[in-house]
Amino acid sequence: MDKQGSQLIRGLEGVVAAETRLCDLDGTHGRLAYAGYDIEDLARRATFEEVCHLLWWGELPTAAQLDKTTLALIAARAIPKELIQAFGLVPKDTDPMRVLQAAVAMLGMRDPDATDNSRAANLRKAVRLTSQLATAICAHHRVRSGQEPVAPAADLSHAANTLYMLTGRRPTAVVAKAFDASLTLYAEHELNASTFTTRVIVSTQSDMHSAVAGGVGALKGPLHGGAGEAVMRTLMEIGEVKNVDAFTQKALAEKRRLMGFGHRVYTAGDPRAAILRGMAEEACRQSGQFKWYEMAVKLHERVHAAKTLIPNVDFYSAPLFYSLGIPVDLFTPVIAAARIAGWTANIVEQHDDNRLIRPRGDYVGPTRRAFGPLDTRG
Ligand code: SDX
Repeated sequence: MDKQGSQLIRGLEGVVAAETRLCDLDGTHGRLAYAGYDIEDLARRATFEEVCHLLWWGELPTAAQLDKTTLALIAARAIPKELIQAFGLVPKDTDPMRVLQAAVAMLGMRDPDATDNSRAANLRKAVRLTSQLATAICAHHRVRSGQEPVAPAADLSHAANTLYMLTGRRPTAVVAKAFDASLTLYAEHELNASTFTTRVIVSTQSDMHSAVAGGVGALKGPLHGGAGEAVMRTLMEIGEVKNVDAFTQKALAEKRRLMGFGHRVYTAGDPRAAILRGMAEEACRQSGQFKWYEMAVKLHERVHAAKTLIPNVDFYSAPLFYSLGIPVDLFTPVIAAARIAGWTANIVEQHDDNRLIRPRGDYVGPTRRAFGPLDTRG
């Protein structure tokens, strides 16, 4: 079919590219639900393990099903020793998202189901990758810090174990719950750039590891998953609450892109930001770093007053992650460790009802012209 009548839509804004049962995103009213369950309920009342089960199998698990999924995730936490050795070979200042992308590719080299795109194999890989990404992120961080990786703790939840492998300390129940809710809030978000990337890759009948490596590459960008790290660096640049007004005036005058603000879909507000704001307030207070929260609130107020820009999911997750002791350059890998649930669920969905994703380009280059031999040019 040619492209008669099609018009250029920059950034595919508003284009519906797939049917999905995973995520209902109402940008006009600022509402978000995973498979029919409101994000507020899931963040406050479900665990990340329950949300993974919901995204992969379409239903919240029964107690028996949750035990089975939890045990499968625990059993899959180990990563090959060769991968840990490889972490020792990369330059210490390598962007952790670049290391994560390579780690996913290397996990694909050893996964027994790597080239099997059946639903059963994809669901096995979804469990393995969800557990292995967390372990890989933490192990790389320990190795680049000159420390031995912390072996996963089978008695801890996915969220608690991730913080434990990262810091070497078992988190308190309050900290673990805040991090667990963060993972749920970041788990899935319809056809965002990284998820769409994974769908494009598997639409060629390529495999889950190839697609997730692509998704990591897309999430890395500061317009997408990289924004959280950029928000924290902005707060650090401002330094103190008293500096927010001057910073905001200068940034607006310079027409600076304010990280953590704006969204392609949400016009009335990002519901995740509202939830994360409350969590950030509590966590920053508990950790004695309340100034980061105060600065974020004041910056939010000043920017919103000047530009009616809404804070997105990355705005309040930044002070929250910082107060939980997560290194700033691991904010995006941590988001990947959550979004792997949504990426893998979308990959399963794409494989279930696949058609090669292949949009058109509108040619605006030179009209047809004769080829001149080299000695006639110039
Ligand atoms: C995520 O898609 C998803 O679902 C993503 C995500 C998910 O869960 O997967 O929600 C996660 O990626 C959240 C977004 C994180 N990115 C940032 O915080 C980076 C800063 N935000 C912007 O770059 C921007 O708001 C985007 C990229 C998020 C959305 O960009 P759009 O839809 O392409 O909007 P645009 O860049 O065309 O901006 C429209 C107008 C422009 O003004 P004009 O040039 O037309 O006068 O709004 C302005 C922009 O200048 N604008 C901003 C701004 N965001 C938009 N101006 C200053 N600072 C900003 N952050």
